[in-house]
Amino acid sequence: MAEYQALAREGLGAAQRISLMEAEFWHERWQKGETGFHQPEYNTHMQAFIEFLALRRAARILVPLCGKSLDMLWLSEQGYRITGIEISEIAVSDFFTENQLEHRITQTGNALLYAADGIEIYCGDFFEIQKADLAEIDAVYDRAALIALPPTMRPGYVRHLTGLLASGTQTLLVSLDYPQHEMKGPPFSVTSREVVALYGGSHSVEQLHAEDCLAREPRFREKGLTRLEENVFLLHKKPGLAADQ
Ligand SMILES: C[S@@+](CC[C@H](N)C(=O)[O-])C[C@H]1O[C@@H](n2cnc3c(N)ncnc32)[C@H](O)[C@@H]1O
Repeated sequence: MAEYQALAREGLGAAQRISLMEAEFWHERWQKGETGFHQPEYNTHMQAFIEFLALRRAARILVPLCGKSLDMLWLSEQGYRITGIEISEIAVSDFFTENQLEHRITQTGNALLYAADGIEIYCGDFFEIQKADLAEIDAVYDRAALIALPPTMRPGYVRHLTGLLASGTQTLLVSLDYPQHEMKGPPFSVTSREVVALYGGSHSVEQLHAEDCLAREPRFREKGLTRLEENVFLLHKKPGLAADQ
């Protein structure tokens, strides 16, 4: 792969090369408007299961790899404060302009911070954002973030995300499970077993819902999938982990 070899010649380590290629992949998707993952409606699982987090009003919800998800708008309308993290400036800028949200932009650490009333999005690499950069996070909403990453990046994603959170923080995770050999991804298939393997050390893991959703997903049927399941998990960070500060 030519890009990979060019990056290797620049003397970058394997993890940095993978991370740079991933970033390039997503920048290109946004530039070309290839954003089939973006939902024009609010996510129904989020709407159905957010109450399981039992959050107080004005709790802060972290939305990693947020794209320009309208779910942030809905959550904000429910009275929650939102902190998104997204690498594409196109996505972040579109989110605020398309939803007519007055905002200001400031430089902060390794990211640009876009902030409107109740919603802020760090435009930068998720892996570069540190706990000290963020206000206290009360909960996480992950839809199409974990499953956007290839298998080699998922343990690092979970480790980094867990390090941003205090003990007791809950996460609502919406993921997909399908025969991986039938489609290349992203989105990738992440089985319930893998969710437990990734999160089980640091979180309690409870599966709230499983749904066969192939019938209502023509774009995945066209790609040849014979099975597609959407799973919803409630994760609860265990106390006393080293990552807690
Ligand atoms: C599949 S999309 C999902 C977006 C959003 N969660 C949604 O539900 O519409 C994955 C998003 O992650 C972003 N992304 C990928 N790698 C990232 C990284 N290292 N840091 C921040 N954002 C990243 C991409 O630009 C893309 O918008």
